[in-house]
Amino acid sequence: MLALRADLLDFTATPAWGGSAMDGVRLRPDHWLLVGDDGRIVGAQREDPGPDWQRHDHRGRLLMPGFIDTHVHCPQIEVMASYGTGLLDWLATYTFPAEARYADADVAREGAARFVDALLAHGTTAAVAFPTVHAGATEALFEAATRRGMRLVTGKVLMDRHAPPALRDDVSAAERDCEALIQRWHGRGRNAYAVTPRFAVTSTPGQLAMAGALCRRHPGVYMQTHVAETEEEVRRVAELFPHARSYLDVYREHGLLHARAVLAHGIWLDAEDRALLHDSGAQIAHCPGSNTFLGSGLFDWQAAVDAAHHVSLGSDVGGGTSLCMLRTLAEACKVQALRGTRLPAWVALHAATLGAATGLGLEGEMGHLGEGALADVVVWDWAVGSVAEHRDAAARGALPGLPAQPLHARVYAWMMLGDERNVAAAYVAGEQRFARAPTA
Ligand code: GUN
Ligand code: ZN
Repeated sequence: MLALRADLLDFTATPAWGGSAMDGVRLRPDHWLLVGDDGRIVGAQREDPGPDWQRHDHRGRLLMPGFIDTHVHCPQIEVMASYGTGLLDWLATYTFPAEARYADADVAREGAARFVDALLAHGTTAAVAFPTVHAGATEALFEAATRRGMRLVTGKVLMDRHAPPALRDDVSAAERDCEALIQRWHGRGRNAYAVTPRFAVTSTPGQLAMAGALCRRHPGVYMQTHVAETEEEVRRVAELFPHARSYLDVYREHGLLHARAVLAHGIWLDAEDRALLHDSGAQIAHCPGSNTFLGSGLFDWQAAVDAAHHVSLGSDVGGGTSLCMLRTLAEACKVQALRGTRLPAWVALHAATLGAATGLGLEGEMGHLGEGALADVVVWDWAVGSVAEHRDAAARGALPGLPAQPLHARVYAWMMLGDERNVAAAYVAGEQRFARAPTA
């Protein structure tokens, strides 16, 4: 039995878009979070829990549910921060050559371990992730997550055209691989399979139809892909599927839009697309760090709220330049500012925790600090370094002449200024899986 002492922050409902009101926000300052031997949260209290409990005293720090990164590419750490191109060029120049290396079992195993350990060190305890087209690399990723007890949703990437020959599969071999991987991994521990057509550009209609049939045959599996990330890509999809009403509609037509679908980006959508997302229950994984880096466009979060479809957050490494969801959320705020609107910290943090879990149908398991959830939690320093510490002191009212600021102001400053250096410890299902090395 484990007890963790910190300022506990999580969400019990969806916060309002428009302001910094506390609806749905649950702050329990200086509490102990109690975790049973099965790794599940059993409660929270102010009083010292007593000697029967193994106690980790993080007083003065912030404890939140671990972040859920709903769109990230395991084999792309190698291509982060590659210079100078937009999406389609970037894929051909940097990404496909890097992914081809994952045909090698050692590369795949080491890459998977590096990736999941890096997620934990960045404060992310669960992910919806792309491996490569290789079944072996997909197995390696499931194995790495299993060893750490993490919730992972992934599946072999499907690509049967417009990709280098070494990364292309074909419909029947890909179907066999997917069936075998689903049998072996879906529902085993905290693993779930995602049917993964990379995007409409790299799959033939025949392969998309096969992917849709897999979703129908295995109703519990997820689906992940990309949609409407750049204008050039949207034009390419219109050429390849001239009869389709829209890019998103290509996926609907092939049976790929459903409540377990996670579609990255969704920048260049129209009102009919957004209604389709709402009706299907699918979620958009908004990836602001990637969108600004690749110059893809500014996601219209307000339109998503108006259409009432799910929005979660993805780092989209390596299109994104950081695995850290705090940096990703800070980018999201800047994207909304460029659109002339403001993203409250509550909406952003909810989308990266409870909102993501709810969109995945996993809110019973993770994304909050309520009783019964697995203790996937991260302990954060409120501030690291003299500048952030001074800013935090201002928020706390510790600077003479400046009044204490509302909680939202302190959390917003933490979110905007913090990064992976703020992660003190990460726990997965109550097991400590990362602890920052003590400084000398
Ligand atoms: N669209 C298709 N593949 C990719 C990818 O690997 N990264 C991003 N950002 N967009 C894509
Ligand atoms: Zn991506």
